[in-house]
Amino acid sequence: QQRVFSGVQPTGNLHLGNYLGAIQRFVALQDRYDCIYCVVDLHAITVWQDPVELKKQIREVTAAFIASGIDPARHIVFNQSQVSGHAELAWVFNCVARLGWLNRMTQFKEKAGKDRENASVGLYAYPSLMAADILLYRATHVPVGEDQKQHLELTRDIAQKFNSDFGPTITRLGLGLGETGEAFFPLTEPLIGGPAARVMSLRDGSKKMSKSDPSDLSRINLTDEADQVASKIRKAKTDPEPLPTEAEGLKGRPEADNLVGIYAALSDMPKEQVLADFGGGQFSTFKSALVDLAVAKLGPIGGEMKRLVAEPEHIDAILRDGAARARVLADETLNQVKDIVGFVR
Ligand code: TYM
Repeated sequence: QQRVFSGVQPTGNLHLGNYLGAIQRFVALQDRYDCIYCVVDLHAITVWQDPVELKKQIREVTAAFIASGIDPARHIVFNQSQVSGHAELAWVFNCVARLGWLNRMTQFKEKAGKDRENASVGLYAYPSLMAADILLYRATHVPVGEDQKQHLELTRDIAQKFNSDFGPTITRLGLGLGETGEAFFPLTEPLIGGPAARVMSLRDGSKKMSKSDPSDLSRINLTDEADQVASKIRKAKTDPEPLPTEAEGLKGRPEADNLVGIYAALSDMPKEQVLADFGGGQFSTFKSALVDLAVAKLGPIGGEMKRLVAEPEHIDAILRDGAARARVLADETLNQVKDIVGFVR
């Protein structure tokens, strides 16, 4: 069985990187897989969140999912804290994952910064909660941006170690997958790719577009108005050369590469096609076309998000319904895990 799982943190404005690297691709996968899309509020509190803002952000991410075209009737949309199995399985995985594995996680190092002693224990254990999110549903495919690659490798390591630590029990209980029947958890495939797997800051082509960049000009937020989108794109950093005619010519030109990648992802074309249309021309012409494209694509999503968040009861009902359906799947896995580990129930 093929199942997609992915999550987005409710921690600040959603931006074009979240949309192109993740949410737009979530929408595209709906026809081919059973999908579970989660607002990961447990992950959010690994760094301090204002409680009033957190509630608002959970609803806003949910609204972004729906406004972008995710169908919560056919697929599952919910917030993580409402299915307690995430936290329970994460504890088991904390006992499977090794300190050495977590010590290698670059995202922890970046987020904890210099004052590591003062980072929360939750921030350190973040990747085992993420593995639990995915494996609680025995998801086979996980669409994410490039920055999550290392976490997905760790998820595979955790799955593999669990499978091998408990292999004989899994076989004895008849709970295994595949021919040998020893593996309980699948080795999840990351779905990372396309022209916008790593959208960069509009101000600095060497930094990724991020919620935490102090400059709002560095990112396009999903709720930006058309004039903000236009002015951010016009002010985006470029270089003095005209656009190249072939993708090869984007090497060593990170700002040009980023804008072409954004155009390609928004219009669902390869970068080569974008360069066939705009190569040899000036940035000003290309930027005008990019403004039109971005406004046409993002404007309706931002508008719909604002409409949806104005009706929180409707959003909350979607989340409650999603959580109830997720819980059924989660409980099944969790009971099997308890049997495998040797808990009495
Ligand atoms: P988060 O909330 O930081 O980001 C949500 C999604 O957006 C992608 N993304 C980007 N893609 C391209 N360019 C960018 N500049 C960019 N910035 C963010 C992220 O890769 C992600 O796909 N740990 C995850 C949330 C998570 C999760 C999971 C994901 C928790 N459990 C289980 C998948 C499966 C995170 O912090 O994403």
